[in-house]
Amino acid sequence: MDGHILIIEDEPKMGKILQRVLAREGYEVVFAEDPVEGLNLLRAEPFHVLLTDLKMPKLSGIEVLEQAKAIQPECDVILMTAFASVESAVEAMKKGAFDYLIKPFANEELKILVRRVIETKSLKEENEQLKVQLDQHASFENIIAVSKPMREVLDRVRKVAASEASVLLRGASGTGKEILAVAIHRSSARRNGPMIKVNCGALPETLLESELFGHARGAFTGAVGARKGLFEAAHGGTIFLDEIGEVTPALQVKLLRILQEGEFQRVGESETRKVNVRVIAATNRSLEEAMQAGTFRSDLYFRLNVVPIYIPPLAERREDIPALIEHFLARLQKGEKRPKRAFSPPAFDVMVHYDWPGNVRELENAVEHALVMGEGESLEIPDLPLALQNFHAKRDFADQPVIFDHLTLEEIEKRCILNALRRANNNHTRAAKLLGITRRTLGYRIQKYGLEVAKAKDEEEGPSEKTALSDEER
Ligand SMILES: Nc1ncnc2c1ncn2[C@@H]1O[C@H](COP(=O)(O)OP(=O)(O)OP(=O)(O)O)[C@@H](O)[C@H]1O
Ligand SMILES: [Mg+2]
Repeated sequence: MDGHILIIEDEPKMGKILQRVLAREGYEVVFAEDPVEGLNLLRAEPFHVLLTDLKMPKLSGIEVLEQAKAIQPECDVILMTAFASVESAVEAMKKGAFDYLIKPFANEELKILVRRVIETKSLKEENEQLKVQLDQHASFENIIAVSKPMREVLDRVRKVAASEASVLLRGASGTGKEILAVAIHRSSARRNGPMIKVNCGALPETLLESELFGHARGAFTGAVGARKGLFEAAHGGTIFLDEIGEVTPALQVKLLRILQEGEFQRVGESETRKVNVRVIAATNRSLEEAMQAGTFRSDLYFRLNVVPIYIPPLAERREDIPALIEHFLARLQKGEKRPKRAFSPPAFDVMVHYDWPGNVRELENAVEHALVMGEGESLEIPDLPLALQNFHAKRDFADQPVIFDHLTLEEIEKRCILNALRRANNNHTRAAKLLGITRRTLGYRIQKYGLEVAKAKDEEEGPSEKTALSDEER
């Protein structure tokens, strides 16, 4: 079995026998006669088990145990004693020994005990790993990240979750700052502690202060009793300070103090209190500009910005759009009795190309809107919110390469014609040539689809360069 074992035994003969017995079991065994030397070995490399004598001239086994636990808390310690006193054994167990052996002991006894230590250890490790994986999975499975920028964001989020560092999440409204803050908390060591969310922009300064730090009885009119603040409520866990850019300079000082010393005072109280809280802050404002303007303290900025995470707007990571659509379609239709619906190719195409100024939140709302409004088997353009329909109505396909996936034949034809018109600067004769059709056929199609292309000013030529429709009318 896999196992790295250190033996500290001042009697060389005894130590060598133990080494041989355990080595025969397949463990890698190191033997030190001198406890000080033994502890140095422990400092140099990891061991699974330390087997130490209790009575030794230089250091007692209890001292070895204490130091070993300080150097390598993960290493399990077994004590051996010829002077079996219940007290020393109890003391050893209290100080964190795994077990003890009373000399003389049979080889078999030693082998069984060591095997038990190692087996328990690997089981524990396996469990730990499984738990971390499960937690990470649970906290990240609902976050869509297909695009490279978003995968990089998630990568940073995973790394920062494992630490205790303050995090500043930045990104426009609806980009996913809150969902990431929750994921950080849930996959951090504080996952079993509370997570408290505060919207710093929603309350006036004095109210926000007493919300965050609590207040003494009678601290202000209406403060009938003393009250705990949200920082105290978040003790042992995480506090999420949303819209941190809205906090006034006076409150910023108090936040800085709690970030740096973990100390604060309730409003109307002189007693200093302590908490252990991790801070995750979020903002969609430029704190750099606020610093320049003198409305945001630079020391607080630097303290918060230990690990900055910037979430790009959805329009800069369009690869996420199809997956997000799928995600929200599945989530919003969960439990519905009727057959599952999806977007028709043209409606899907509109969504993929829209600018999404409201980012993921707007997309989520659009999916919900379509599900509520849609009456057919699939969700169509008229089922989309007005903003998307307007976008579609004004859409100029001529600038875009034609991608044939998920388009109807009619849609493809329309776009090919628009592209050709654009390239020919609206000259129908040239456009028809590019398309390999007669000018008459082109004119017919233009009218049928109601196509129109603005012409470039610098390329004035003949009568055919008026708008498409008027050209046809001529
Ligand atoms: N990558 C993503 N995967 C899945 N859902 C997401 C993702 N990003 C955001 N969402 C969802 O979009 C909605 C908006 O996200 P969230 O509230 O986290 O944004 P925000 O950045 O905090 O916005 P605001 O600045 O307006 O408060 C939420 O319902 C959230 O679950
Ligand atoms: Mg938010």
